[in-house]
Amino acid sequence: MAGEGEAVSQRARIRAFRPEDIPELVSIAEESFQAASWSRESYEELCKSEGFLGFVSERAGRVSGFVVGRQAADEGEILNVAVRRENRRKGEGQALLSAVLEQLHRRGVKRVYLEVRESNENAVAFYQEQGFAKTGRRPGYYREPEEAAVLMEKKLTG
Ligand SMILES: CC(C)(COP(=O)(O)OP(=O)(O)OC[C@H]1O[C@@H](n2cnc3c(N)ncnc32)[C@H](O)[C@@H]1OP(=O)(O)O)[C@@H](O)C(=O)NCCC(=O)NCCS
Repeated sequence: MAGEGEAVSQRARIRAFRPEDIPELVSIAEESFQAASWSRESYEELCKSEGFLGFVSERAGRVSGFVVGRQAADEGEILNVAVRRENRRKGEGQALLSAVLEQLHRRGVKRVYLEVRESNENAVAFYQEQGFAKTGRRPGYYREPEEAAVLMEKKLTG
């Protein structure tokens, strides 16, 4: 049976992020141009910051996907989520998001929000499937290329 912070999604195993995963996170994000593309240094800073949460999925001992977020008081934010191209549509993204949402819920978070590129319809569909609803739009929010952000939110109850 999976322990706390672990879940099994087909053959993928979800575990807590470790700083030594950072090179894999950078490489997964690089093959996902729609995901936020941060440097190794940005992840190093982020994982030391207050309220940071992260999980990775592994297949055959190799990191296959990740989710990073943060908590500030009773609000949570999903900062980035990506799964290796060849492993998509196998429930891994959903398992990663569930892990981070469960941890936020346990920490007393009531509302989780995120921003996503407007053209990233796959991710919008993915988040909607996980219970996030569109709450707004921020024109010109992203650079390279410039694009609007869709704002999405999920209330955590129970
Ligand atoms: C978004 C992403 C993380 C989803 O990961 P995933 O492991 O493929 O997602 P799952 O298999 O858990 O999908 C769960 C459900 O979400 C929805 N969904 C996922 N990908 C979808 C897509 N491309 N189109 C439409 N719906 C999609 C479906 O309802 C899916 O269930 P189904 O496969 O039974 O139909 C992945 O596509 C990815 O890495 N994309 C590039 C990075 C990115 O855009 N990240 C978001 C940045 S904000």
